[in-house]
Amino acid sequence: MIRKTIYPGSFDPPTNGHCDIISRSAKIFDRLIVAVGANPEKKYFFSLEERIEMLREIVSEYDNIEVAHFDGLLVEYAAKVNAVTIIRGLRALSDFEYELELALMNRHLNSDVDTIFMMTDERYSFIRSSLVREVAKLGGDISDKVPKVVENYLKKKFS
Ligand code: COA
Repeated sequence: MIRKTIYPGSFDPPTNGHCDIISRSAKIFDRLIVAVGANPEKKYFFSLEERIEMLREIVSEYDNIEVAHFDGLLVEYAAKVNAVTIIRGLRALSDFEYELELALMNRHLNSDVDTIFMMTDERYSFIRSSLVREVAKLGGDISDKVPKVVENYLKKKFS
């Protein structure tokens, strides 16, 4: 049996916190799909193509990870690609309520798909994509918060 899982998110942009979850998940599962989805509440800074490009470069050294995108419901996408689990990172207590709602709604929509939570490494517990964008926009150093490829994309955008 191939244990396939999905790590979904907006990745606007991917941060070292996301990379931490990606690398640890890739050790547990046979195949990992990093899936760029759309949160209808968000207006994205990077285009879908840019987010996919950054992620592809980040995972290029792994042979069991692919990057994809999906429209519509996450659980429908999970069923389509035969993934039985969804990975989500938890950084702090503040993430819990939102993540619990997502997980319960996803389970309600498709009880064959389970959500698994992974605690983000404490070094990245205060990082989120919008904060990284804000600091980069104001010229702050984000080199230890994001992979080099993302740092370069941000520099280009704000130059
Ligand atoms: N390290 C650092 N930051 C992290 C992180 C980690 N390990 N995990 C999450 N974050 C941050 C992200 O940077 C992001 O920050 P931001 O809000 O400043 O941009 C924030 O946490 C949450 O982002 P993300 O994990 O990407 O979730 P999301 O809410 O943007 O998107 C989807 C979640 C796309 C998976 C969700 O909206 C979805 O499933 N959409 C499809 C439609 C659907 O099925 N809806 C029903 C859902 S029940």
